[in-house]
Amino acid sequence: MTQSIESFTSFSLPGLPAMTAADFERAARLIKSKAGLVLGNHKEDMTARNLGLSAKRLNLARISDYLDHLERQPESDEWDRFISIFTINHTAFYREQHHFDILAKFVKERNKPISVWSSTCSTGEEAYSIAITLHETMAAPESSVHILATDIDADAVKRAEQGVFNLDRVQPVPQHLLKKYFRRGTGRFEGKAKVKPPLQQAVEFGIVNLVSAEGWPHGQQFDAIFCRNTMIYFDKPTQTKLLARFAKSMKPGGLLFVGHSENFSQMTSDFKLQGQTVYVRV
Ligand SMILES: C[S@@+](CC[C@H](N)C(=O)[O-])C[C@H]1O[C@@H](n2cnc3c(N)ncnc32)[C@H](O)[C@@H]1O
Repeated sequence: MTQSIESFTSFSLPGLPAMTAADFERAARLIKSKAGLVLGNHKEDMTARNLGLSAKRLNLARISDYLDHLERQPESDEWDRFISIFTINHTAFYREQHHFDILAKFVKERNKPISVWSSTCSTGEEAYSIAITLHETMAAPESSVHILATDIDADAVKRAEQGVFNLDRVQPVPQHLLKKYFRRGTGRFEGKAKVKPPLQQAVEFGIVNLVSAEGWPHGQQFDAIFCRNTMIYFDKPTQTKLLARFAKSMKPGGLLFVGHSENFSQMTSDFKLQGQTVYVRV
């Protein structure tokens, strides 16, 4: 049974250091300030397990020792591991198919080079879906498409960059596009598909924490930004701040694609809802 924050003083899992309510609150504070993510009370079990495992891996007796260790070393790689405990990487090729239809129509109507930012790209499915859409729509994609794909989660970005997916992951990609843009693995890569070089080279991957000014692609002006299924984990002030930043990074008339349960119409005058979770930069 899940214990609520009010009712638990210590959350124990066999073989791991116990998590106290104070540890949980401290971890919630840290992940909020570091990545903007709001940690719900239903995440206690997962948090206790992962913080317990992290403490154990570093031979630390208590979770509070692990959190001390983090806070004492603001530049440590351990922060990446801490952040990835709380990031939810769920994604899919052609997730919310209508977004890719709208992107294709947008590109056809403009008929000029395009720059797109997949700002929470997770393991890459979103960025490669964008790349396929643009390659299928534009006359000379090699010279007229720029896609930046970033995420806060370093492991996810590494996997995205490798461009190797289990065959069940690429199922949403239509057969003729699968043949055109992926190589089927053989031998030890049996059951996998790898993105072919022309498509892979069309995407520039990187690590960007959206809530930090550092690393933000300042100076770049995008025609379209995808920020889908992530803002929902941020609080309202963070969402408002991000919308203002996205507005600055977009050309007028550009499109902002958001997740199916995200609605920012009341929070910004920089964007107007065009329909079906797509906003236009005014
Ligand atoms: C649920 S996935 C969504 C992936 C993709 N946009 C989609 O809709 O299929 C959320 C992603 O947001 C990333 N994320 C969370 N906080 C972030 C932050 N502060 N900056 C950048 N990315 C973040 C997570 O690492 C995760 O990969």
